[in-house]
Amino acid sequence: MINRIIETVKEAGKIVLSAHNQESAVTAKEGKKNFVTKYDVAVQDFLFKELAKDFPEAEFVGEESENDFESKALRFIIDPIDGTTNFMQDFRCSCISVALCKENNVIAGVVYNPYTNEIFSAEKGKGAYLNGAPITVSERLLSDGLALFGTSPYHPENTDATFALLRKVFDFSRDIRRSGSAAYDICTVACGRCEVFFEKGLQPWDIAAGTLILEEAGGKALNYDGEEIDFSKPNDVVFANPKAYEEFITLL
Ligand code: IPD
Ligand code: CA
Repeated sequence: MINRIIETVKEAGKIVLSAHNQESAVTAKEGKKNFVTKYDVAVQDFLFKELAKDFPEAEFVGEESENDFESKALRFIIDPIDGTTNFMQDFRCSCISVALCKENNVIAGVVYNPYTNEIFSAEKGKGAYLNGAPITVSERLLSDGLALFGTSPYHPENTDATFALLRKVFDFSRDIRRSGSAAYDICTVACGRCEVFFEKGLQPWDIAAGTLILEEAGGKALNYDGEEIDFSKPNDVVFANPKAYEEFITLL
């Protein structure tokens, strides 16, 4: 199952890598800073079409669709390009994120960064992998490690709270980073390069695949109240190794 998803996601990555003049390929703009390009739509259309051939019983939820779904047992949750602003400016840090869910549990997840050729993948109960090699979260404390954060420019209601928390995290940790792709941030925690990633108001397609990859790598994926993430709505989330998580929640 996972290999078919990986092959299809890799094919979709070719659309990302073939893109040119991305900034003039913007087709929609919701608010001032929320962009969609023709490539986001093309990657999503390709994934929906190709995955439906292998999983005819599944329904599809994607960042670039209306998402009027009828709650079938098997559902894909897809972000065709996570990091669209990076993509538009050729910052070269954007990912394709594909999660397969069964009755609201993620059973398979793939996050692909075509620029670095990194494929992060996991199946429930079978561990997490980077390009086929097993990965685990780090053993570092947050106080000895790196913290990643995100905050969406098109949700200004989250800005002050996020930067207030970030200030505390910056003082507490070794340093902070922002990649501009939440899916990639989660996977960098999963493979032990960073210790914590946090962001308010993330959508299911930003985090569904990454959540399984992180958990299978031994990490914790919870909302700010310490509860399981609900993939039917936006969530305030923290992804961390277990030791760093305990330190992080003292700063919340
Ligand atoms: C965004 C990225 C970004 C995060 C935003 C997301 P998009 O996704 O993941 O890192 O801070 O909240 O919306 O719009 O580029 O697919
Ligand atoms: Ca996204």
